[in-house]
Amino acid sequence: MSVIPRDQWYVAAYGREIGHELFSRTVCGESILFWRTRAGTVTALSDRCVHRRFPLSEPPSRLVGDQVVCGYHGFTYGADGGCVAVPGQTRVPRTARLKSYPVVEQDSFVWVWIGDPARADAARIPRAPWLAAPGWTTVSGMEPLKARFGLLVDNLLDLSHETYLHGGYIGTPEVAATPITTEVDEEAGIVYVSRHMDDAECPPFYAKSTGLTGRIMRWQDIEYTPPCLYKLHSRIAPPGVLPNADGTDPDAFHVEVVYAITPETEHTTHDFWAVARDFALDDQGVSDFLAENNRTVVLQDVAALNVLEQVIAAEPEGYQELSINIDTGGLAARRMLAGLARRGAGSGA
Ligand code: FES
Ligand SMILES: [Fe+2]
Repeated sequence: MSVIPRDQWYVAAYGREIGHELFSRTVCGESILFWRTRAGTVTALSDRCVHRRFPLSEPPSRLVGDQVVCGYHGFTYGADGGCVAVPGQTRVPRTARLKSYPVVEQDSFVWVWIGDPARADAARIPRAPWLAAPGWTTVSGMEPLKARFGLLVDNLLDLSHETYLHGGYIGTPEVAATPITTEVDEEAGIVYVSRHMDDAECPPFYAKSTGLTGRIMRWQDIEYTPPCLYKLHSRIAPPGVLPNADGTDPDAFHVEVVYAITPETEHTTHDFWAVARDFALDDQGVSDFLAENNRTVVLQDVAALNVLEQVIAAEPEGYQELSINIDTGGLAARRMLAGLARRGAGSGA
């Protein structure tokens, strides 16, 4: 059985990636064709011609207005996936229709539903409002990962690795040294992991972006909604500065680090990352620094996880990992993902 949960929303792309041209991305093993219609909506159709499977994203396939013409023998489809013309006959077979995916553009992401379209409920898409909200400035990107998505989930749920893998960027000794608390909301399907460091070294990532130096308060509050959306609410403040009782927090710096973890195949993953901040909003230097620094950090994870994937692929059955307190969030996430994979199995595949 696949470990990829079906009947789920996944981020397929940033909205900015999709314009009025053919764009293909594989999500959960399904090759999906996107384009933005002249009316501005995003299509999500199977990227396989129903005739002989030629990819509709592949030249000489082309977009003509809001129709895609297959580059092999000319089957032509509308934006709803329905075939409108075939060569050599006027009758278009009734079954000539591309599979169409429910698609929603929200919070700068393009989300697609993988599974039974009848079960798609757009209200269930988890939100990351900062990525497209006034009062926040965001830098973002996507790195391809040659590792199964579960390895990235493990990685993001246990930030103690920052101290070792990301020393000199976001890691300081306190991250690994400070215990975490983990909470699971089974009903909402969310795993929370918190680490509050009240007296910590300020890593370059935050020193250069906020201007704070010396010791800081550094709170990391993770909120993971399996399978796809991970949010790290990061709060940086001078030591002893707490949020007000009413929730306002004017003397702290807030960074929302968002990841969308999208399986490309069973063994490869799209690693979407975004860093939104509520300070230095118009400072291009800060944006450039955070984009470059975060991408470097993501690539450090990618390199490590690519190695792990090779190790796991080559090892004999039955290798036993050893887990400790730092792994409670990751283990809770694994349990939830396994439950989702069981529930979604057999639907619409
Ligand atoms: S494969 Fe597309 S028209 Fe034949
Ligand atoms: Fe990392």
